[in-house]
Amino acid sequence: MKIKTSAPGKLMLFGEHAVIYGRPCLVTAVSSRIYVEAEKSSKGFSIDAPQVKDVRFVEETVKIFKEKYKIDNGLSIKTQSDFSSQYGFGSSSAVTVATIYALSQLYKKKLTKKEIFDLGYKVTLNVQGIGSGFDIAAATYGKTLYFIAGGKIIKPLKLKALPLVVGYSGIKADTPNMVQKIKAKMTNKKSKSSIKIQKIFEEIENIVETVKEELINNNWPRVGKLMNQNQKLLRQLGVSTEKLDKMCQISLKAGAWGAKLSGAGGGDCMIALVSYEKKEAVKEAIVRVGGEVIEVDNNTEGVKIE
Ligand code: PMV
Repeated sequence: MKIKTSAPGKLMLFGEHAVIYGRPCLVTAVSSRIYVEAEKSSKGFSIDAPQVKDVRFVEETVKIFKEKYKIDNGLSIKTQSDFSSQYGFGSSSAVTVATIYALSQLYKKKLTKKEIFDLGYKVTLNVQGIGSGFDIAAATYGKTLYFIAGGKIIKPLKLKALPLVVGYSGIKADTPNMVQKIKAKMTNKKSKSSIKIQKIFEEIENIVETVKEELINNNWPRVGKLMNQNQKLLRQLGVSTEKLDKMCQISLKAGAWGAKLSGAGGGDCMIALVSYEKKEAVKEAIVRVGGEVIEVDNNTEGVKIE
């Protein structure tokens, strides 16, 4: 028997970095997915994952699953991806979640979404040692989520897709390194830098709580303003780059309601909130400053059987 599953990538909407320190964030699942095929095998264990950046996520998932359910057969796993791992769409978390779901179906273990999340988060921590798990939540639940680190709260919001344009900066971000850089500035809680960062995180939390309501009301001009405020705070935090700033600024000039980087910063993508009428102008503007426009939908389905 062969089982095929898929899980979506993600885009952080609001609250990156602050989420590591117990504050909430908003994340949306995207239409780019990773597919996993799993089959029992008499020939031991094999993984064929050509587009997966770090195959340890698949290996660790299988190890944890086998230990948990005391399984000892051989296994063959093949993965395939709609998107390049360089965009920072969360290919590692998508492949982790799709693998957990494929194994649960193959070995007839009924897992709730929260159980899938918990296993996936364990894999993230074992492989990467750091992270809030927001990407694992997006891959599992799909849609747009209000999320608190470790899955303390995972709340799907009743929303339609957001009118977003996504621009890739051309530089691959190193998320663990960016997270460590902030952590290093916060080791001494009473230091000036730590107090400043705490203040920034407090403001980011306020934005997340406010924007959650505005999103439900489809109040795009207000959501855009809050996006710009979040971007300003990320700049103060020191995680934006000249290129990301430029891509955000040019998007606003071309008529976007708001724009910000998405994720750890230091590279990867920015997102702009744009009306249908201004969409083409914003895309052209992003390309003009050297960005690459990525066509993806958001608010998409979580992990599923193919
Ligand atoms: O770089 P990304 O898209 O994986 O986003 C990282 C977001 C952080 O808040 C910086 C880290 C995390 O695990 O929440």
